[in-house]
Amino acid sequence: MDHASNSIIGQAMNRVDGPAKVTGTAQYAGDHQIASGIAEGYIVEAPAGPGRIKALDVTSAESAEGVIMVLTYRNAPAQTPYGEPEDAGRFTQSHAVLENDQVRHFGDPVALVVAQTLEQARYAASLVRIEIETSDKIYNPLDHRDDAIKPDSVDGLDAVDSHRGDFDAEFAASENRLEASYVTGAQHAAAMEPHVTVAQWDGERLTVHMAIQIVSSAVSAFANTLGISEKNVRIISPYTGGGFGSKLGVHNEAILAALAAKVCARPVRVVQTRRNLFANAPHRSRHLQELKLGAGQHGKLKAIRHYSLAGMARDYPFAEAPASPTRASYAANAIHTIHRVVKADIPKVDSMRAPGEAIGTLTFETAVDELAEMCQIDPVAFRMMNEPATDPSSGDAFADRRLTECITTAADRFGWTGRVAPASRREGRNLIGRGMAVAIRPNVLNEARAEVTLSTAGELTARLDMTDIGTGSYTILTQIAADTLSIPANLVSVELGDSAFPETAGSGGSFGAASSGSALLDACRNLKILLGEHLAQAGLSANGFKIEGDRILAGSSDIALADILDSDGLHAEGAVDPDDYGHGTAQYSYGAQFCEVAVDADTGEIRVRRLLGVFDAGRILNEKTARSQLMGGMIFGIGGALLEESLMDERYGSFMNRDFAENHIAVNRDVPDLEVHMLDGFSKDANPLGSKGIGELGICGAGPAIANAIYEATGFRARKFPIHLEDVLDHLPAL
Ligand code: MOS
Repeated sequence: MDHASNSIIGQAMNRVDGPAKVTGTAQYAGDHQIASGIAEGYIVEAPAGPGRIKALDVTSAESAEGVIMVLTYRNAPAQTPYGEPEDAGRFTQSHAVLENDQVRHFGDPVALVVAQTLEQARYAASLVRIEIETSDKIYNPLDHRDDAIKPDSVDGLDAVDSHRGDFDAEFAASENRLEASYVTGAQHAAAMEPHVTVAQWDGERLTVHMAIQIVSSAVSAFANTLGISEKNVRIISPYTGGGFGSKLGVHNEAILAALAAKVCARPVRVVQTRRNLFANAPHRSRHLQELKLGAGQHGKLKAIRHYSLAGMARDYPFAEAPASPTRASYAANAIHTIHRVVKADIPKVDSMRAPGEAIGTLTFETAVDELAEMCQIDPVAFRMMNEPATDPSSGDAFADRRLTECITTAADRFGWTGRVAPASRREGRNLIGRGMAVAIRPNVLNEARAEVTLSTAGELTARLDMTDIGTGSYTILTQIAADTLSIPANLVSVELGDSAFPETAGSGGSFGAASSGSALLDACRNLKILLGEHLAQAGLSANGFKIEGDRILAGSSDIALADILDSDGLHAEGAVDPDDYGHGTAQYSYGAQFCEVAVDADTGEIRVRRLLGVFDAGRILNEKTARSQLMGGMIFGIGGALLEESLMDERYGSFMNRDFAENHIAVNRDVPDLEVHMLDGFSKDANPLGSKGIGELGICGAGPAIANAIYEATGFRARKFPIHLEDVLDHLPAL
């Protein structure tokens, strides 16, 4: 495609949905109003689990003021058993709730109180009396290594394990060897908008307004769970207030709203409270990762082994792949990666912010830093000298690997002058340390379709079931349409998040912009061809025509669109087929991150002072939204390294820190001025736009850059994340 510098694509265009969002006119699912009113549902969570409901008394709740009904397993409509069919995949399998007297885990819904107001429902919920008889359980998978199994698949990878070369021999032959075990904590997405669904039935037809990342698989999930036809499910989700993976699929509030609306024969809204999310929305599992790295005398990597163990929620098949980046980062004679899971009685485990890479680079890149030091080689030089020529796992050629360019550019901009001895840089009471790490993330293209209509007034409407989860989908799609058809962006309306629109892969896996954008590009090109045909039919030159408002300039003619089009305008469809791209190459986005921290020599307080990233994500579709996404990712990196952890009370299997007071995400005070640079590029094998995934790239490498900087400041090597100030206390200079 034309990669001209005057292209609208790439420009730092403000979000087209910005004004609607800041003025409150953008309708999120929870804002949805229905003239006849909406009843409010409140989730009653199991106070223990797994087990069986021994006693459940809802009589006081039922007679409380404003209560319409209390939905329990006794009166809930029949559903497809949870998890069936087993081969459907986690997004489309049955998400049944209140199925029977069994409780899956602590916090599993045991009732939904539906009342006129949320306050009434919430109060009545406090009157529900319940007793659970608990059964055998596994809460902490890391204590049950004997129960570890190989999952059928891991997220984002073709194979669960990979074995290239003779690891044992290469490791034994390595002069420098590192063996280290790491634990990364459980994490929950902290979307600004909690999960929310408004459900309404019209006979057999179900309409839901909900917060969701992928519309089409959610349609299947409702249909499958409720045993209705997909044709009878309509999902509307024009805006979603953050997802981070936790809204890829439907969760308990969604099914509860649909069930309650059916039984009550009126619309029902269920909003998860922040506390609900910790049991009723998915989380990133706690992981054990074991790394064995071997390098020769002069720092050439010979052997890499990465083993990962995590909890998998029973009957919900998802396993994260922390060893994903390990397979493609460095050349080595032997690379073995292994993923294992233990089925556990915990809430759903699912994708969260760069599943795999976020915690995989966190451990692997800190281990690489440690190995570089053992080899007495600067961490930057160590990475450069182990750069692979082809994908070390598949042997495929890289589509366009620009990792070393990211590293050298970042080192230069950061002012990297080489590693210094730990605790050797001091400013007042602060120990200053610097560190770096690389970012690598698979680039993905998924199937998508789009439709466009050009009105005789020269306005273009684009429709896709793509979602905007805060990332800027509306804006980049507007830019793609305006650019392809050479019409002003203010004449383009993009309509998203409706299952009535053409199917896309939605927002996830950093594939959203490329997949839906490529489909829209195709639709706009098809529209252009059709328009040319209409011009030719009218005897006008179809070469290099230009749409200007409601007129079209073709050759020396200037005619009204209305003169060549029907009154309902011109319609075209488009699609992208991933098989047409890639061409057998290994596809990744890349980056390098450099960090400076200050560690208080007396208290151990750790502060990130600078975080700089240089990224290669192919062609940048919008300089502003891309930068924001990368910054968001880097901030998640700060969270993963220093703050975010959901702690479980292992007596009960309950997450304890279920609010922002105790479950810490990085806030302004934790975030320094972030510096983001994007390499100018066009990834021709990736997709017709030349872009690569960016949404999850910024998180990769950010955490280990921080950990490596903490090492230089203090000499402390983390073996568990997040790193807390008490971890470094023993490494501070004596008072
Ligand atoms: Mo992403 S964790 O696929 O939303």
